[in-house]
Amino acid sequence: AQYYTSKINQLAGHNGEEVTIAGWLQKSRSGGKVLFLVIRDGSGFCQCIVEKAMVSGELFSELKHLGQESSLCITGQVRKDERSVGGYEILVSEAKVFCDTKDYPITPKPHGVEFLMANRHLHLRSQRQWALNRVRHTVIAAIRDFFNTNDFILIDTPIFTTAAGEGEQNLFNVDYFGETACLSQTGQLYLECGALSHGRVYCFGPTFRAEKSKTRRHLTEFWMVEPEVAFITLDELMELAEDFVCSIIKAVLENNISDLELLGSDIESLRKIKKPFYRLTYSEAVDILTGPKAAKYLEDELISLSSSLEDAENKLAELTETQSQAKKQWQKDKAAAEIIEINSAIAELKRRIENNPKHARLAAGFQWGKDLGGSDETIISMMHDRPVFVTHYPKDVKAFYMKSNESDAGVVDNFDMLAPAGFGEIIGGSMREDSYEMLLERINEKGYNPQDYSWYLDLRKYGSVPHGGFGLGVERTIAWLTGEKHIRQCIAFPRLMDKIEI
Ligand code: 4AD
Ligand code: MG
Repeated sequence: AQYYTSKINQLAGHNGEEVTIAGWLQKSRSGGKVLFLVIRDGSGFCQCIVEKAMVSGELFSELKHLGQESSLCITGQVRKDERSVGGYEILVSEAKVFCDTKDYPITPKPHGVEFLMANRHLHLRSQRQWALNRVRHTVIAAIRDFFNTNDFILIDTPIFTTAAGEGEQNLFNVDYFGETACLSQTGQLYLECGALSHGRVYCFGPTFRAEKSKTRRHLTEFWMVEPEVAFITLDELMELAEDFVCSIIKAVLENNISDLELLGSDIESLRKIKKPFYRLTYSEAVDILTGPKAAKYLEDELISLSSSLEDAENKLAELTETQSQAKKQWQKDKAAAEIIEINSAIAELKRRIENNPKHARLAAGFQWGKDLGGSDETIISMMHDRPVFVTHYPKDVKAFYMKSNESDAGVVDNFDMLAPAGFGEIIGGSMREDSYEMLLERINEKGYNPQDYSWYLDLRKYGSVPHGGFGLGVERTIAWLTGEKHIRQCIAFPRLMDKIEI
């Protein structure tokens, strides 16, 4: 038997014809002599109408009692219906059930994050996760496309290593036949070897950091893509980063509009993102953070948050009223679900209001020389509608390999790219120290053992050249593009300090 003749996202090409689709029951509703089944098949969602008069009594009864997430295939005629999800529906004439699912744990009612994480293996089927993973697919394809069409060669760098790239405080150690090795925090040091062979190279893979902080921006295992280029300047590197990020946005806007809509992402703002991005030095960023502009911005933000809170509270009152007046159970359920949602929106607004003056205090106490923390990045990033480069950080807060600035040895030739609208850092990059003596000095200053870096130091002895690169975090980029608050949703099986199962 041929079960799989059509995909839901191709129904437009079959209007009026009979098709068979195979998938899972997302939800169903009975209207007496007619059933409405919403089926998802991986390509989309489709409402299927079962009229009692059109099928056998046995089948009608079987379909009527099917549980959520039952798997089945149905045959029927396609017809256009603007109101229907996806724009087409199917009038069912035949059906075959593969698995009649009972008691699917994730009901349409809202659930807490912990419950959903504990059921990640099933939650992946939810509409939001489905859309997020589709966006992720495009982002990753766009990343590879960009480098493959811009003369880069892929170099796969190792995951087991003995060289820390990004500091020793967040290394995962593993026992390697009695020796201690660690999981890679970055492919960069190896990639630099590749750049001196090919000129333009990139690596792309999972990256490991023992992050003990539970923030919305940190995973312990995340995917990072890193290009590295020989004979390049800091300005050229930033232009490369700009073109790269624009190409990702373009691909997502071309391929995932319906996913972005479903996820509630700010599509209009994404469309407006063009080069050049904003450029600030670290010192200018500090001036902004400690100056009246940030204070004023935070004040305005506070006023707007307060007014949103008032709106949300009015809406809550309205919904509570609707719920108590509702006659039908499904109306009560619908209102209850909306109440849970609005309550969580209210909690989020309150949290932001509470944190706002904290930002102001933090900003007032900021001093030149400190690294920008998550909340500093948030402020700078909130104040801009396009990504912002922050360049030339104090040497002491940055990695040992970053090149000192020629005219100001206190800062390095580096940049972070902050995504706009409060998302914060998505890229970190720099020129690399290319002088043997200076690099050795930095290694000693940091208290590392030069022996561990002998091969890396060799690159500065044999044909050293000005070179640099950067790394983009895939999950943070997806969170920004989709408006998802926490990056744990932006990878199918997230790894966090307190999450390793499933
Ligand atoms: O700024 P980072 O630490 O830079 C590097 O690792 C350099 N070696 C890259 C290079 O120059 N080749 O990390 C780069 C990016 C960050 O901007 C962020 O997007 C992401 O990686 N990132 C994380 N994403 C999720 N969870 C974490 N714990 C992350 N740490 C960094
Ligand atoms: Mg960084």
